[in-house]
Amino acid sequence: MKVQAAYNKWASTYDAVNNKTRDLEGTALHQLLAPLSFATVLEIGCGTGKNTSWLATRAIEVTAVDFSAAMLEAARAKVSNHNVAFQQADITAEWSFVTSPVNLITCSLILEHISDLDFVFQQASRALRPGGFFYVGELHPFKQYQGSQARFETATEIIKIDAFIHHASDYMAAAKSSGLECVEFRELFDDEDRTTTPRILALLFQKRS
Ligand SMILES: C[S@@+](CC[C@H](N)C(=O)[O-])C[C@H]1O[C@@H](n2cnc3c(N)ncnc32)[C@H](O)[C@@H]1O
Repeated sequence: MKVQAAYNKWASTYDAVNNKTRDLEGTALHQLLAPLSFATVLEIGCGTGKNTSWLATRAIEVTAVDFSAAMLEAARAKVSNHNVAFQQADITAEWSFVTSPVNLITCSLILEHISDLDFVFQQASRALRPGGFFYVGELHPFKQYQGSQARFETATEIIKIDAFIHHASDYMAAAKSSGLECVEFRELFDDEDRTTTPRILALLFQKRS
């Protein structure tokens, strides 16, 4: 199913169903970002706001962007922090929602749905202050090779959401050509069992000063 329509449909149950990828990505974000300090944050693909409040308690200002009206509605109902501004926008078009450069941009479980990584990394690099950070937390490509992709169940069917495979080297190449340096490369496993296929690839890039 097309991405926007799928998330509009999934929004009402997204937080309620069991979802190891959703939860483990939250763990990854906390691990990589807890040591940092950041005043201004741009959260891309905020969804129902799983990570928004956590970011808002550490920042002065958070702009949280998503193109699904239903996911944004769920986020607005859940997130009460007064320093969060939600915006509906498609990140595959020019990022006109960026009014001034920020200290941190986060992308959690969204790039699987984006075909052109280079465009996103270029927009992110332009939107960052020198020395600013770009966090990416995604379903690990090894899981994708085994057939995993974003999906959800309704009463009658399993809906698979349009997805693209990005190899670890694709993220590195997109970062390099956008002037971003990889400062953390982490793989997270279910139950921390490193004999299994990693579920989450978590990357932290920094814009050169
Ligand atoms: C799997 S959800 C992740 C939500 C949240 N970040 C989380 O970790 O729970 C992916 C989100 O990306 C959004 N999304 C996908 N493609 C997008 C695009 N081109 N522009 C803006 N949002 C997009 C979807 O609407 C959805 O809310």
